[in-house]
Amino acid sequence: MPEGSFAAWSRDRLALACRGAVECGDVWQLEPGVYVAATAGPCAEVLHRSQDFPKPSSPLFPPLKRAISELTPEEHAHARAARMRGLRTRAVAARIGEIAPGTARFADQWPTGRDVEILPVVRPVLAEIGVRYLFSEDAPTLLPFAWQLFVARELLVRPSRWVRPRWVPTSARRFRTRQQIAFTDALRPIVRRRRSSGRLGDDVLGQMLRPSPRYGILSEGAVLDTLPGITVATFETPSRAAGLILLHLARYPQAADRVAAEAALLPADPAATTSTHLDSLHYTQALVREVLRLQPPSWLLTRRAPRQTRLADYTIDAGSTVLICPYTAHRDARQHPEPDRFRPERWLDSPAKPGVFLAFGTGPHGCEGAALAMAMLTLLTAQTARRYHLSEPLGPEPGYQLTTFEGLATPGLHLRATVRG
Ligand code: HEM
Repeated sequence: MPEGSFAAWSRDRLALACRGAVECGDVWQLEPGVYVAATAGPCAEVLHRSQDFPKPSSPLFPPLKRAISELTPEEHAHARAARMRGLRTRAVAARIGEIAPGTARFADQWPTGRDVEILPVVRPVLAEIGVRYLFSEDAPTLLPFAWQLFVARELLVRPSRWVRPRWVPTSARRFRTRQQIAFTDALRPIVRRRRSSGRLGDDVLGQMLRPSPRYGILSEGAVLDTLPGITVATFETPSRAAGLILLHLARYPQAADRVAAEAALLPADPAATTSTHLDSLHYTQALVREVLRLQPPSWLLTRRAPRQTRLADYTIDAGSTVLICPYTAHRDARQHPEPDRFRPERWLDSPAKPGVFLAFGTGPHGCEGAALAMAMLTLLTAQTARRYHLSEPLGPEPGYQLTTFEGLATPGLHLRATVRG
């Protein structure tokens, strides 16, 4: 345990995470009953051993009805696969032409010649793309409700001096429940209309409504309970990632030039973009990956140990919390030479070994939206660099903070776009 760790943790969590990894190694103890898996091996091990280290249920959008809680682990896995079919790599690849116009619009509409605050601009754009990806022609109905879910989430995760038990109905939790009910009430008639008409649709909702070979038909409750979380996921973390990526385009102009050169090969009509175009953006994808390596938006994941178990050289007591830290795992020189250097080329030189890139987690709870996120972020990066040079505001201070409370984010980040000559 590094000295004075808990107070240091409250002050600067990233700094202490790095210190813990350097001073104590693969696994270290933050305080009694709280362990940190700091390098790729133990991180991946915890994420894969989901029986020993189950994921706590998300406090953000708990099911309104306990529609899928009585299943065996195997049925759970089949039900999860059935719910997530529309997010698989192949499903995303087939719909690149629907994603690209939104990212191109973002670039087209960026006000040039002045400093612009990034997160408030990029978030609605990604929300529109994400909600459209999930619900196609029903997206305009659901978008305002999706936005309110996001507002509710922001209120819930705001840092507070008081941690209240989950059952206490704080105003933020009551607001969350009201927004969840409102979203579900808007979605229910859409689900019923699609089911009764037989026109299920080819979007994520349509894929959920189709019977799956292993699980059969998902109940209406399971569909309605799943979608609030997924809907917010389509734009919340991707917006934070986009802020970090655009900041790197501004800081590394040569890398941005290389992205721009690659992006010049994209079709003039964004709707004509295909997965082949996307796959040809090798350097852009490497740049996105490199930003996610250095600044993984989900930099700290949580698991519990209900029973005593072993991890590396530690005995983890029953009831402990285990924190998984992709941020420090990605800074391990054994896996990533010169780990602190921003070097997108590293992803072109040699493909990553499985389990060393943890920005999207891994194992049974790994990110279901990784393919969609990579498509949105790669296209947004390419379209932006194709049109503009980005720069940070002049001045002694960066103007934004790197916050760590609910993932890494850059609130207050401003950038200026200048049209490329
Ligand atoms: C850059 C963007 C994103 C990042 C960095 C990211 C990261 C992650 C990580 C690290 C996890 C694992 C959490 C854990 O093990 O506790 C996760 C889970 C998940 N992500 Fe993402 N994510 C992103 C975008 C998306 C998108 C676009 C979706 C679309 C729907 C999505 C849907 C999900 C879902 C449903 C899970 C939960 C899996 C489960 O608990 O079974 N994510 N994500």
